[in-house]
Amino acid sequence: MTRAAITAIAGYLPENIVTNFDLEKIIDTSDEWITTRTGIKERHLENDPKKATSDMAVEAVKLLCKKRGISPEEIDMLICGTVTPDLVFPSTSNLICAKVGAKNAWGYDLGAACSAFLFGLATGAQFIETGRYKKVVVVGADMMSRIIDYTDRTTCVIFGDGAGAVLLEPNEENLGVMDFILHADGNGMQHLHMKAGGSAMPPSHDTVNDKLHYVYQEGQAVFKHAVYNMAEVSASIMEKNHLSPNDVTWLAAHQANKRIIDATSQRMGIGPEKVMMNIERYGNTTAGTIPLLLWDYEKQLKKGDTIILSAFGGGFTWGAVYLKWAYDGSKTGK
Ligand code: ACO
Repeated sequence: MTRAAITAIAGYLPENIVTNFDLEKIIDTSDEWITTRTGIKERHLENDPKKATSDMAVEAVKLLCKKRGISPEEIDMLICGTVTPDLVFPSTSNLICAKVGAKNAWGYDLGAACSAFLFGLATGAQFIETGRYKKVVVVGADMMSRIIDYTDRTTCVIFGDGAGAVLLEPNEENLGVMDFILHADGNGMQHLHMKAGGSAMPPSHDTVNDKLHYVYQEGQAVFKHAVYNMAEVSASIMEKNHLSPNDVTWLAAHQANKRIIDATSQRMGIGPEKVMMNIERYGNTTAGTIPLLLWDYEKQLKKGDTIILSAFGGGFTWGAVYLKWAYDGSKTGK
C-alpha cells in the first residue's frame, strides 16, 4: 500500500530565552523545584507583541519547503494543530498558507492540545494513503505565553513557545505512518481547560478581571492521567504491531514532564538512550513538542528507523503513532 512518509522536517523557536533563574525573579519558585519536578531548565518565549502563532509556523513551513526544495504552491493541504490560534477565525492554517504563498492549499486548525500533532499526522496521512494528495504539511504550533498567567507558578514554569512542521508525501517502500491509536475523553475537561473566551463564557470585563482567559490546570490530576495513558497507549501500539523493545529505535514522546516520559519508556521496556528529549531547553510547547523533537534529532535518524510517537494533553486527548523513518537525516539535520 502507499504510505504517508515524513520527507522533511523543520521548526522555529522565538529568540528570547527565559531560564528558571529568570522566573525565580518574578514568582515564588526555584530552579531546583522546576528541574526536579519537570526536567525543564529554560524555554523560548516570544516577546514581540506583534508576533502570533502563525508567524512562528510560517518560519517553520518556509524552512520545510527550502529543505525539500519545493515551492509552497506545491502544497495540497496544511493542517495546523494549535490551542493558541491567531484568531478565533479564520483558521491559523489559512493565515499560514496566505503568508507562505501556499495558494493551492486548503486546510484547517486541529484542536487537540498536546496531542494535536499526532491527530494531525494521522489525519494528513489519510489524504496521502488514499492517493488524493501528494504533499500534505502538518504543523504543530503554540504560543503558550499568550494564554499563561505569569503570576501562577503552577503553570507558568512549564510552558514555552515554538512551532514544528513536517511534509508528508507518498511512499511505496513501506515507510512512513504504519499505525496509530488515538483517544479522546471530554470528561477530562474539568482538569485542564481555558474557562472563558468561547461560546460557553464569552469575553467580558468580568472574565478578564477574574483571569479566566488563561490555562487552568489541576496539575496532579493531569499528571496521573498522563502517566497512565501515555505509557499504556505506547505499550499498546507496540503489542498491536508485534514490536519488541529491541525493534524500537526511538521514542519521541510529548515533552510535558520528564517524569511522564520516563514512566512511558519504562512501560515500553526501552532504555534512556532511545528516548528523544529536549524538554530542558524548550519546556512544553503543546502542539509543537513532537515535531520540534524530531527536528532536533533529525541528524541521528536513519532510513527504516522505528519511532514511536506518543502524547497526552488537554481534552483529555492522547495517543501513539508507529512511524518508520523514510530518509537518512544525517545530510539534512541541523
Ligand atoms: N515552584 C515551587 N513550588 C511549586 C511550583 C513552582 N513552580 N508549582 C507548584 N508548587 C508547589 C505547590 O504549591 C505544592 O506545594 P504544597 O505542597 O505546599 O501545596 C507543591 O509544589 C507540589 O505541587 P504539585 O502540584 O503536587 O506538584 P507536582 O509534582 O504534581 O508538579 C506539575 C506539578 C509539574 C504541574 C505536574 O503535576 C505535571 O507535570 N502535571 C501534568 C502536566 C501535563 O502533562 N499537562 C498536559 C499537557 S498540557 C496541555 O495539554 C495544554
